[in-house]
Amino acid sequence: MVAYRTKMVERITLPAREQRERTLAEAGYNVFNVPAAEVYVDLLTDSGTGAMSDEQWAALVRADEAYAGSECFDRLESAVADVMGFEHVIPAHQGRGAENVLYGTLLSAGDVVPNNTHFDTTRAHVANQDADPVDCPVDEAYDFESDAAFGGNLSLDRARTVVDEVGPEQVPVVVQTITNNSAAGQPVSVENTRRVRAFADEIDATFVIDACRFAENAYFVKQREDEFADASIAEIAREQLSYADAVVMSGKKDGLVNAGGFVATDDPDLFERCKQRAILYEGFPTYGGMAGRDVAAMAVGLREAVEEAYVADRVEQVREFGSLLGEAGVPVATGGHAVYLDAGAVLPHLSSDVFPGQALVCELYREGGVRGVELGSFAFPETDRPELVRLAVPRRTYHREHFDHVVETVETVLETRSEVDGLRLASEPSIPELRHFTADLEPVQT
Ligand code: F0G
Repeated sequence: MVAYRTKMVERITLPAREQRERTLAEAGYNVFNVPAAEVYVDLLTDSGTGAMSDEQWAALVRADEAYAGSECFDRLESAVADVMGFEHVIPAHQGRGAENVLYGTLLSAGDVVPNNTHFDTTRAHVANQDADPVDCPVDEAYDFESDAAFGGNLSLDRARTVVDEVGPEQVPVVVQTITNNSAAGQPVSVENTRRVRAFADEIDATFVIDACRFAENAYFVKQREDEFADASIAEIAREQLSYADAVVMSGKKDGLVNAGGFVATDDPDLFERCKQRAILYEGFPTYGGMAGRDVAAMAVGLREAVEEAYVADRVEQVREFGSLLGEAGVPVATGGHAVYLDAGAVLPHLSSDVFPGQALVCELYREGGVRGVELGSFAFPETDRPELVRLAVPRRTYHREHFDHVVETVETVLETRSEVDGLRLASEPSIPELRHFTADLEPVQT
């Protein structure tokens, strides 16, 4: 089922091969340094890169830009109440701004935070409070062979081990990230959310859901969790989020906008405390660093995100892309927003110290002007995560022809894979956790 027809187009071009080769070298073999105009199919991220609907553009044009008490903020409040079930909302410029507001309010030095898997900015914001982010994924999270329905779940055994080690008073917050971006975008079941709620009650912790991709998660729940087979996406989303004390949201994902985010809660005390920090870092709490027009567009986007036709079209497009890549012979894990390739299996002759994932990312650009992102030993130094390359799919943006082009590109890379060189760092930025954004690399002849 196709849910749209096109009303406006943006021209894209594939630069000549020699140009791509030159661009890659000039970019220090780091695709974050490649100009977007020289990318043909841009799968770097699904964050803020999607197409807005005509209804969102209409809301954007009609929005008011008041510093305090704007009418578009009222519309956001009512959308958050209807779609997510929370009474209080504090906008922020994007998800990480909301993380700063919430985690800065909830955490103190020495605290420990279990999460199914911390996204990079979440990890950084927890660490920024001198607290310790601990990932508690289930065993299947990184298993490409696994057919687990909910490989994104939080492992309660792991979370309990954390609490046993440090004591419940050191664990004031438990987080569940839906879907689990860092574990191949796999979903989290409502059953797991209920268990985490009970666990948080046991240890008297605040339960936060990182709801960036809550609608995509609800689609998987409908398909895979028997209890919800006949429920609507909107009902499932509200049910799952109802267990949280607060949500932290990047509107750039399932808010269907290019900028924005928020914290939402029913707890009046938490709301008051967050508001003070929001004023300090984001802006007055009726705009929170967003333009009124983006607030208005996000209010519409949240409602669209739980429409059955939207979310089915969205997740099924990603699923189809994943199965095309799988048929081409690449080990893949497919989540709600992205397909993750196992670069270690594609380039077995490259050891992790020469960054097989980044070598594959460069090869995809060189062969087809396709941009993905490495999530392996280059992005996560000192961890033993698999060598993943993520191809994230912007919402409502690309069509089957684009995905066919990516699949053809991957097939070409597979034919010549034994000749692909590894890479080494040519510069080392000062913060190792963020090096993949800015580091320069150079090829190593192997
Ligand atoms: N939480 C999760 C699970 C995310 O995936 C992201 C962003 C954030 C928080 C932060 O939100 O970007 O609006 O500040 N993920 C993007 C990505 C950047 O490419 O996966 P933000």
